[in-house]
Amino acid sequence: MGEFRTHSQLIEAALKRCNVRPEEKAVMLSSRIIDPADLAPYEEALRRTSDHVISVRYHPMEVTDAHHMNDMLLAAMQQADFVLHYRGGTFPTPFAQLTAHSRGIPEVAASSTRWLDICLNEANQFRLHPSDEIVAEAMEAARLMERTNEIHLTSDGGTDLVLRKDGRKGHRQLGLADKPGIWDNFGFAMVACAPLENSANGVVVVEPGDAMLQMGATVRDPITLRVEDGRIVKIEGGESATALSQWLERWQDPESYGVSHIGWGLHPNAVWTGSPRFTPVDGESYRGSILIAFGSNTTDMPARHSGIGGTRHCVSHLDVPLLSHSFAVDGVPVVKSGKIV
Ligand SMILES: [Fe+2]
Repeated sequence: MGEFRTHSQLIEAALKRCNVRPEEKAVMLSSRIIDPADLAPYEEALRRTSDHVISVRYHPMEVTDAHHMNDMLLAAMQQADFVLHYRGGTFPTPFAQLTAHSRGIPEVAASSTRWLDICLNEANQFRLHPSDEIVAEAMEAARLMERTNEIHLTSDGGTDLVLRKDGRKGHRQLGLADKPGIWDNFGFAMVACAPLENSANGVVVVEPGDAMLQMGATVRDPITLRVEDGRIVKIEGGESATALSQWLERWQDPESYGVSHIGWGLHPNAVWTGSPRFTPVDGESYRGSILIAFGSNTTDMPARHSGIGGTRHCVSHLDVPLLSHSFAVDGVPVVKSGKIV
């Protein structure tokens, strides 16, 4: 991508990179809670790219933290070649929207539909849109993740966690829904996998300045997570540990404590907590950070590097980005103390 004079030019370039063509059926999808006026640049870009655009607004159908598709919405999206889903510029939003973990997303992808989420405001889209270098690096990282069997996470702060992923996918997330059956999210640059559900053993020390994204919280004092056979069995620490314990408890689901996915961030323009520009997209994409998550991990798409394909069904999902960690795959370091090797 080169220089863009307008916002809709940036979106148009993103759509062209996703191979949206004039003959394709494209959907502009949004929750009815999003202000329709905010959709103008996206609709403009979509209409310049495809000759067959419809706009669909969904109403909240289930008032829970996770939003799922009803059968009518699912059937409509399965008819599309390409879906552009605008989630507003202030993710996470105080209302439920469709996410990668929603029922319906894998079913839509299974119909060969390509799906691109956008959950950043205009300024952050300009900051985080993927360069050719990021695309190439993330694809290479996804191939490395795919062929990895064992993961070792460590830190000077006391983390020492071993996980197995034999046979699981290498998922890449970089805003490129260019092949049939891909779900992606614009502005991200990260790779992830779902480790085997009972494989993680050891300790994770979450440090001040790390984040618990769905809780909307920055960690204030160290949290020690003891993990046995894939699940957190003990949470130790102070104020932040208590907040985490309470959040996990409220779902009343033992799977909330299970490891969901793990991987690393690649985006050179992402910022960390404490920056006024910080968004959850930054937290998941910050170059050299590690993202570990707990809860659901079943989302999967037909495309080779899209989705994680675990077996942990769970009502909750919590993403925890970690700075200053080291990450090795089959004994080979890829991140050392927060820096890409
Ligand atoms: Fe996640």
